[in-house]
Amino acid sequence: MPVDSEPGSQPPDAGDLLTRHRESLFPSVALFYDDPIELRSGEGQMVRDGEGREYLDFFGGIATVSSGHAIPEINEPIKAQLDRIAHSSTLFLIRSQIELAERIRAMTPERLNKVFFTNSGTEANEAAFLITTLNRNSNELIALRHSYHGRSFATINASGQTPWRSSTLSPLQTHYVGNPYCYRCPWGKEYPSCDLFCASDVEAVIRTTTSGNPAAFIAEPIQGVGGFVTPPPEYFVRVGEILRRYGIPFIADEVQTAWGRTGVADFGFQAYGIQPDVVVFAKGLGNGIPIGGVIATDELASSIRSLSLSTFGGNPIATTAALANLNYIATHNLRENARDVGGYLQERLRELALKWPAIGDVRGLGLMIGVELVHDRATKEPAADVVLRVQEEAKRRGLIIGRGGLYGNTIRICPPLIVTRNDVDTAIGILDEAFAAVVVSK
Ligand SMILES: Cc1ncc(COP(=O)(O)O)c(C=O)c1O
Repeated sequence: MPVDSEPGSQPPDAGDLLTRHRESLFPSVALFYDDPIELRSGEGQMVRDGEGREYLDFFGGIATVSSGHAIPEINEPIKAQLDRIAHSSTLFLIRSQIELAERIRAMTPERLNKVFFTNSGTEANEAAFLITTLNRNSNELIALRHSYHGRSFATINASGQTPWRSSTLSPLQTHYVGNPYCYRCPWGKEYPSCDLFCASDVEAVIRTTTSGNPAAFIAEPIQGVGGFVTPPPEYFVRVGEILRRYGIPFIADEVQTAWGRTGVADFGFQAYGIQPDVVVFAKGLGNGIPIGGVIATDELASSIRSLSLSTFGGNPIATTAALANLNYIATHNLRENARDVGGYLQERLRELALKWPAIGDVRGLGLMIGVELVHDRATKEPAADVVLRVQEEAKRRGLIIGRGGLYGNTIRICPPLIVTRNDVDTAIGILDEAFAAVVVSK
């Protein structure tokens, strides 16, 4: 893996880069680590920083690098497309865009048959809100607490986490339901004796806080930024029954859960056995090349009666990357690998939990695993400080992991779907040492 300087680039000094980052970028853009690093090159599941240190990447650029770094079977078609034509705009036919739309149609239920491509998950959710609010002539949305749907006016307002809600000036009216967070049940109940009280809450919210005509219900099958909160298996089926009774469309925000990451199916909604009316996707589709979009029913897609375009949405480079990535995922059975290696990782993490009482909960599906840390298992006091230190110690030993959750106390693990059981053993060894270092130095 060469660490070469691009023409015109500065020497790879992270301290200097940090100063320049702070001088020139929005202060709201936070960085990981006491000493932030630049990831300068990568190969497969390994990445290397500006000073040549190597790391096992168990975060995948926030669940985005699905197939791994610098994969020739993905990069070669992108380079070839770049040499043919980089951009034409959506005012012209784009072969790879049409092929990708057909491919996504084939992966989703038949009634979802119209695709609109965007450049990010935020924009994709905006498109979902536009078609559902137009279709239902309503500006009301139902969302889950602890959700995250993006950083624009409307999507911030659909996100149920104060740390990410920089504004509430959106025209959307969002009603929040309690999330299916069994470890910290909002009602203090226990699964399964709770009889899915959280699902019943959706009906209570519809009946008590809306006009009776909300535009849509939106949910991530597994909450990403919320800390990989993983609903019980029956949750979405129960919610789906309620939504059908009231005729409310269901938007599945699959920005983190799609393309085989859950190991069970291509999309999270399939893993939960539900039928959405709109599916929102982004992140992992392009293996790092920016692309997002929605697939919706004909009726919802036809709700936009004026003109609408996205200059870059579905651009030849992005859609070529996505097709190559989907081919790679399919031909290398990465979904099956996510299920196998993810299952093994959960097993090993549960073993670690027997040793380290700070581990309060291990949850997730496939290669989307949350490890929630607490100061005390009885009180479940969130241990965000321990997460920060474990993350630092893991980095020192060559492992990159993420963090998240409303309380900042959940380690998020979402590596490229190519990781092996050997990688898991390496990661578990490093995490064990990291916990030892944090506990000893306390
Ligand atoms: C579930 C979900 N929806 C939407 C978004 C927004 O996507 P983007 O950052 O590409 O705008 C994110 C980003 O983390 C996400 O996790």
